Amino acid sequence: MLNIFQPDIGNEEIKEIDKTFKTNWTGKGKKVDELELNLSQHFEIEVNRVVTTNSCTEALFTVFEFIKEEIAEIKSKNEVILTPINFIGAANAIIKSGLKPVIVDINDSAFNISKVEDKINANTAAILITPYGGNPQVNVDNLFYFCRQKDILLISDNAISISTQYKGKNIAHYSDFSLYSFDSMKHVAIGDGGAIITPNNSTVDKIRKRLYMGLTSKSGLSSKKEEEWWEFDITKPSRRSIMNDITASIGIIQLKNLESKILRRKEIYEIYENNLKEMDEFKICVHEYSKKSKSSYYFFWIQFSSREKRNLVSKWLKSKDIFCTFRYFPITLVDGLKKYLNIRFDIKNSHEYAHKTLCLPLHSSLKNDEVEYIISTLKSLVESEEFKKLK
Ligand SMILES: Cc1ncc(COP(=O)(O)O)c(C=O)c1O
Repeated sequence: MLNIFQPDIGNEEIKEIDKTFKTNWTGKGKKVDELELNLSQHFEIEVNRVVTTNSCTEALFTVFEFIKEEIAEIKSKNEVILTPINFIGAANAIIKSGLKPVIVDINDSAFNISKVEDKINANTAAILITPYGGNPQVNVDNLFYFCRQKDILLISDNAISISTQYKGKNIAHYSDFSLYSFDSMKHVAIGDGGAIITPNNSTVDKIRKRLYMGLTSKSGLSSKKEEEWWEFDITKPSRRSIMNDITASIGIIQLKNLESKILRRKEIYEIYENNLKEMDEFKICVHEYSKKSKSSYYFFWIQFSSREKRNLVSKWLKSKDIFCTFRYFPITLVDGLKKYLNIRFDIKNSHEYAHKTLCLPLHSSLKNDEVEYIISTLKSLVESEEFKKLK
């Protein structure tokens, strides 16, 4: 089966893990510090503002809890604006933190949002944006400026947008908190892991404590105390959500090779684009901000005129060993979430596009003949009489 996403890992990663094994320390240590340093260089952000975690979901939970307890409560604001096209963990995190998710629509087939500024009110604590497919979803610099003026936090779930740039800068520069995933299908695939870019030094310290049981001081060998170095204190009861040196070792190599892997994704994206752009049976969705931005090329998606056509194509491709999906199944259609969501605005675009869109395989291990096979298999169905008869 050709996978839709897949990690691209090999001997270089194994060698790095081997080095870590020989240090006799596999927990959070020097390799995690090295990865945080390398990430800060990648984002061109001060090193102490990048904090690693054990997943992006945990990063989402930590950041929304922090916002609720240390910002929203003080300012008596409790609403977070987001679109239905979001990872389920983002909605879970907002709800579990005690904040209220307020749903706004996307405005076009490329899953951009616009006029989110019109949807705020005195209760808006934060806006969550989720760049779709690795492309900016809004004019991020304008929105960030607007949020600063209105005292609203801008959170960007950049899980699939590690190298995305807008106006020449990584989009991490255009939000208060940027969150990243290093799970097994992401650009930097380490098994499980994530990172948070925090707005400033005082915040980073609080976030680090939240990710490590609330501990305020180092104990054991790292303690500066002359005696009873095993004593400690905590700021508040918290979870343990840190990265370790084994996964960090994989991350160091994955990050080193990231740009070449993104170039390979771009090549594949362009093969799809060049071969499919003339097709009348579906359209390729160009995101609105492409001229001012650089993509991380995480999704290549096409849109049909109906849900029936999209579903027929996905089943046909699967029968030919090509696995496709749609990301992200709208949170507004998840039964277990519905009662928690505040739907004050029309959200028909999100549902319509979610039902007509299909993401095709895109990852750096795909070979050209595999991409050609996907294209010819897709064409063979959509050019058939059976398909053309469908509405
Ligand atoms: C946009 C987005 N946010 C968050 C996540 C969660 O990442 P993790 O698996 O690291 O928890 C994902 C994972 O697919 C994602 O695509």
